[in-house]
Amino acid sequence: MRLFISLDLPDAPLAALCDVMDRLPGDIRRVPEENLHLTLAFLGEVSEEIAQAAHEGLETIRAPRFDLKLNGATVYGGRNGQAIALEAEGEAPLHELHDRIRARLRGAGLQLERRRFRPHVTLARLPGRADPGPALGALCAVTIPAFTVSSFSLIQSTLHEQGAIYETLSQYPLA
Ligand code: 2AM
Repeated sequence: MRLFISLDLPDAPLAALCDVMDRLPGDIRRVPEENLHLTLAFLGEVSEEIAQAAHEGLETIRAPRFDLKLNGATVYGGRNGQAIALEAEGEAPLHELHDRIRARLRGAGLQLERRRFRPHVTLARLPGRADPGPALGALCAVTIPAFTVSSFSLIQSTLHEQGAIYETLSQYPLA
């Protein structure tokens, strides 16, 4: 199974993000509303045993709720495909939660990617060679009002030709 950990976005920022996505050029492939999320850790393809061990580790996390802000639009990726995203302001509680999750996942036997954590919410995807300029231009002055995050989730991602289908396997509350 292909798994990742997402920070759950409440309804108000989800609605604001949908309004923001309406500004994108018509030919761009938008992320469906039900798939909008902020990735805290990407586990990749794992066995059921590892998934269960990861879940048991994540269940023991006691961390506070915190406020989050989504700011400037940016582009990730390169020749294999680009993602247009809004960056999350890197407040300490977000990074602490990320560190704790990674520690629990390592404890469950997972080897995680070493990429620097750049928290973001992907809004749209573009082919590798497409010019991201019009999409970035459409989002240049966007801000999403700050909101409180109160849970994160273990998500299973199944890849289909039309895009990924995400299924929440477990949700973990923040205190
Ligand atoms: P993205 O938001 O930048 O597209 C499910 O695939 C989620 O995990 C996506 O949100 C994706 O990030 C994130 N992710 C992080 N590392 C990944 C990787 N190596 N392959 C696929 N998705 C990854």
